[in-house]
Amino acid sequence: MRLEGKKALVTGAGSIGMGRATALAFAREGADVAIHYHSRPEVAEELRREIEDAGTGRRACCLGADLSTAAACRDLVDEARERLGGLDILVTAAATIVRKPILDFTDEEWDRLMDLNLRGTFACITQAARHMKNDGTKGRIIVYGSVVQQAAKPLQVGYGVSKAGAAHLARGLAVEVAAHGITVNIIAPGPILTDFNRDTLADPKIAAERAKDIPMGRIGRVEDVVEAALYFASPAAAYTTGVTIFCDGGFVLP
Ligand SMILES: NC(=O)c1ccc[n+]([C@@H]2O[C@H](COP(=O)([O-])OP(=O)(O)OC[C@H]3O[C@@H](n4cnc5c(N)ncnc54)[C@H](OP(=O)(O)O)[C@@H]3O)[C@@H](O)[C@H]2O)c1
Repeated sequence: MRLEGKKALVTGAGSIGMGRATALAFAREGADVAIHYHSRPEVAEELRREIEDAGTGRRACCLGADLSTAAACRDLVDEARERLGGLDILVTAAATIVRKPILDFTDEEWDRLMDLNLRGTFACITQAARHMKNDGTKGRIIVYGSVVQQAAKPLQVGYGVSKAGAAHLARGLAVEVAAHGITVNIIAPGPILTDFNRDTLADPKIAAERAKDIPMGRIGRVEDVVEAALYFASPAAAYTTGVTIFCDGGFVLP
């Protein structure tokens, strides 16, 4: 039980993806979890039941919010802390993507990416850090970035900018809160089959084509990623901050 008695908020956990898998893994390791969802309360509720019915005594609650405004993000973090009775861990997995050439981007599409992926991350992680500092909690903040925070890929430039910004923000915050024992780290997945890209990657032909860019030769699974989140949240990572773990089968290497 690496997270016995810890209290964690995971954003973007109300879908079949890495947020959900992270929340479940945290609960299995002994944490109580606030499950943030956006548009599908029934998926979050099913996860809540799965955690509470496991018979381990772990508690979970579901909190719905559109995180495209800073105020909604801060309210979510405040509410999670209140419902859980404290906040030891924040994971930000909520994000959106617009796949198209940057020359064709509309202002609205640019704003949609930056509002959620960059400002949303900013508002969530700074509010969590504020609470952790004031509460004297040696907290853990974990940001889901992406391989495209580093690799410039066609059709993903706008998304990549939002993820690069969030990753830089996380590293900067890591420096500012290090003296309080709070860590801020980043997980950068490569292509992973989730609700985020099920429309394309569920097609074996498209998956095989994408896998050609991955030295390990296959699309990732959520199980390939959650262990990194568990590590960053665990006591073993108390002296590790501002770090990015790429869970990508070698995607960023060539
Ligand atoms: N899958 C990949 O290949 C991949 C690769 C690199 C990085 N990532 C990153 O990994 C993280 C998790 O993604 P995932 O692949 O696991 O997919 P996912 O489960 O679909 O996660 C994205 C979450 O963001 C939520 N969301 C979307 N718009 C929102 C809004 N306006 N306000 C609040 N929440 C909103 C979604 O909720 P709804 O579905 O209800 O809208 C969903 O729960 C994301 O940060 C993503 O950028 C994914």
